Amino acid sequence: MIASHVWCSSGCLRVAGAGGMRNSGLKSGRHAQSAQPRKHFIYSLNLARSAIVCCGLLGGMAAVAQENTVAAKFYRVIEGKVDARTYNGYRRYSASCSRCHGPDGVGSTFAPSLIDPLLDIEAFRRMVREGKRNGSLVMKGFANDPNLSPYIDDVYAYLQARADGALGRGRPTRLGE
Ligand code: HEC
Repeated sequence: MIASHVWCSSGCLRVAGAGGMRNSGLKSGRHAQSAQPRKHFIYSLNLARSAIVCCGLLGGMAAVAQENTVAAKFYRVIEGKVDARTYNGYRRYSASCSRCHGPDGVGSTFAPSLIDPLLDIEAFRRMVREGKRNGSLVMKGFANDPNLSPYIDDVYAYLQARADGALGRGRPTRLGE
C-alpha cells in the first residue's frame, strides 16, 4: 500500500504538470490581469487535479483487483441463467459423475459431495484426470475419456456455481433461453 502510494504521487505529479499547462491556456482570459492569483488558482487546481488523478488510479487498481476475483470464477450466472460453459458442465456432470457423486453435486452414500467442500481448480483437475481409490471405493481417471477430459473446467464451473449458492438444484436455464 505504501509502495503504491509513493508510485502514485510521483505519477500524479507528472500528470498534473501536463494538465496544468492545458489549464493555463484555458483560464488565461478570465485571469489575465492578475498573474499572481492566477498562479495560485492553477496551483490549487493542480493539487485538486492530482488528488482526482490519484483517486482515479487507486480506484482503477481496486477495479483490477476486483476483476481478478471475478476472473477466478469459472461460471457466469445472470438472473438465474447460466452461460454455455456452466450449462455444458451441468450436462457433463450429469452424464459422467452424478451416478456416484449424487445429483447436483450433493454427494451420495458412495462418493462425497463435490460442492461442500469445493476443491481448488488444480486439485480438482488432477483428481478427475487421475481418479481416486479409497479402499474398495474406486473412481477411474477421466484423462482418456473424450466426453469428459476436454470439459473438466466446465464441470468445475458448474460445481463452483453450485458451491457458491449462485445456482440451485436441477437443470439450469441457459442464458438466452
Ligand atoms: C464410479 C463412481 C464415481 C464416478 C463415476 C465419479 N466419481 Fe469422483 N469419486 C468417487 C469416489 C469413490 C471418490 C473417493 C471418495 C473418497 O476418497 O472417499 C471420488 C472422489 C472424487 C473427488 C475428490 C473429492 C475430495 O473431496 O477429495 C473429486 C473432485 C471427484 N471425485 C470428481 C468427480 C467428477 C468430476 C466426476 C465426473 C467426471 C466423478 N468424480 C465421477 C467415485 C466416482
